[in-house]
Amino acid sequence: MRIVVGIGGGIAAYKACMVIREFTKAGHDVVAIPTDAARKFIGDATLEALTGNPVSATVFDGVPEVRHVHVGAQADLVVVVPTTANLLRRIANGAANDMLTTTLLMATCPVLLAPAMHTQMWENPHVQHNVARLRENGITVMQPDVGRLTGPDSGAGRLPEPAEIAEMALSLVEEKATYPQDLAGRRIVVSGGGTQEAIDPVRYLGNRSSGLQGAALAACAAQRGADVTLVLGANSLPYKPAGVTVREVMSARDMQRDIEDELVGNTDAEDAQPSQNAQPADVLIMAAAVADFRPDAVADVKLKKGAASEPDRIDLTRNPDILAGVVASDHKPRVTVGFAAETGDADTSVLELGRAKLQRKGCDLLMVNEVGFDKTFGQPINGGWLLGRDGSEQQVPESSKRTVAQHILDATVELLAEDSSR
Ligand SMILES: Cc1cc2nc3c(=O)[nH]c(=O)nc-3n(C[C@H](O)[C@H](O)[C@H](O)COP(=O)(O)O)c2cc1C
Repeated sequence: MRIVVGIGGGIAAYKACMVIREFTKAGHDVVAIPTDAARKFIGDATLEALTGNPVSATVFDGVPEVRHVHVGAQADLVVVVPTTANLLRRIANGAANDMLTTTLLMATCPVLLAPAMHTQMWENPHVQHNVARLRENGITVMQPDVGRLTGPDSGAGRLPEPAEIAEMALSLVEEKATYPQDLAGRRIVVSGGGTQEAIDPVRYLGNRSSGLQGAALAACAAQRGADVTLVLGANSLPYKPAGVTVREVMSARDMQRDIEDELVGNTDAEDAQPSQNAQPADVLIMAAAVADFRPDAVADVKLKKGAASEPDRIDLTRNPDILAGVVASDHKPRVTVGFAAETGDADTSVLELGRAKLQRKGCDLLMVNEVGFDKTFGQPINGGWLLGRDGSEQQVPESSKRTVAQHILDATVELLAEDSSR
């Protein structure tokens, strides 16, 4: 694939080099187009060495080839990283005053803009107006991350992780992903990862959930405009999704407490983030693998092998069923989504197990997927069936966890619309 990486004049310009590396590692042909301001932050030599292509910095480079026209016309994907506030304005207004903006005017391929700037700039109504206008015109503008900015300050406006930018960019082409703003104004709580139930300070009972599906759901929901909190258990995520409030937990009971806080919009919780919205949630998606049991007692010190104090058995207590509890409560959100990670057997198929689980949990939607030692857990792909409380059954083909997330969110949007029309 031929990918153009445009680079704006922001402090995060050096991170464009890591995005370029992600693309070249995957075998893509990359052309870098820094703006004049970007060239004050990173040198052409770095970009030429990383891409193996000459940098096209001005419309007067390579005039016989008319590069300001050809580079954009031949591109399969354009990614602008970082997109400064000034670039957002220029692109939204159809500017053609440098090589990058003329390339963007010529491009008919998917375009991803990854903004980065200080929080006040990002939240400024002029900037938000430009973002809305770009999205209306079919350009995907990533939600920036919340976190440490240039100096000691932190807030919304941080550039998302380079690996996430590259993953989302490729999904625009390979999976034809789109991010309509159909969840704007909604609060969504997603759980992901596995829980750990302590036996002693060293050992625990756990499971093999990686958190990838929960993170994909949270990232896609945020990109579709929702205010998202991810309640995240143990995980092996390469990065935390951008634009999402993450609350990290260990045990099933910790997860239950944080989910309940989030559902009612309780910002008094000990680890509540200032960005959290004190508004009840509209949707709960339980993608976490929650332990059914925990040890009756947790030892204060490590249980020593062969010592008189070593127990010869560990008794277990049943953990609360978080989803069933929420469904039965007075703070049930408008839409509840569960997951059933199943292994079928000779008598019962994965789908039959999923149908039974939907009845038991009473949620609105249930994503049923088959798991195994090398299947689903920790893998980039997923698939299965999306079952509805109304008896609907939709097959979800094997695809990336981001695409599976989009199927679930599409169904969630439909249920939210039905609920509002009642
Ligand atoms: C040290 C420094 C850091 C800057 N960082 C940012 C930034 O992160 N985001 C932003 O929108 N502008 C930032 N600016 C301002 C831009 O450089 C300025 O608006 C410039 O005109 C952007 O040009 P462009 O349209 O080529 O990106 C920064 C400026 C300086 C001097």
